[in-house]
Amino acid sequence: MKKIVLTYGTFDLFHVGHLNLLTRLRELGDYLIVGVSTDKFNEGKGKKTIVSFEDRLKIVAGLRCVDLAIPEESWDQKTKDIEKYGVSIFGMGHDWEGHFDFLKDQCEVIYLPRTDGVSSTAIKKTLQALDKSHVSDLKKALDLISSIVERFD
Ligand code: CTP
Repeated sequence: MKKIVLTYGTFDLFHVGHLNLLTRLRELGDYLIVGVSTDKFNEGKGKKTIVSFEDRLKIVAGLRCVDLAIPEESWDQKTKDIEKYGVSIFGMGHDWEGHFDFLKDQCEVIYLPRTDGVSSTAIKKTLQALDKSHVSDLKKALDLISSIVERFD
């Protein structure tokens, strides 16, 4: 019988921390199912992604370590999916430690260490910072142009 592993996540701006987690989860069983949060579900959590749900799902589904990618639409979906797919292991990153222990009645629940130094939030912050410095560079260029134009007034 196949050992089925299940996990969920947003996977915005897909990065190596996501890949490491999914690869490790896949190695724990024979079939990995990944629930990708829909934009509507994220909206309810006050979370906005840069990459759309359709593209996030496509990226996750295209990974060699992922056998099936499904939409994650609600909090109570986990219990139903474990039942529906006959899941043996439910796994998440360390940041969720303890949060899903209530699923232990249904299957094994594990929390794997996160990859240090990378997260979607950190990438978004870097992008914002770059954006700000870009704006200030543009302002400096505009000031320079204005000062040149003024000389010809
Ligand atoms: N994850 C991980 N290592 C990281 C980042 C994420 O193992 N460096 C794991 C999370 O623990 C989670 C899964 O990847 O089980 C999906 O996480 P997600 O919330 O989509 O990614 P984050 O990069 O943590 O996003 P955010 O910063 O927005 O919370």
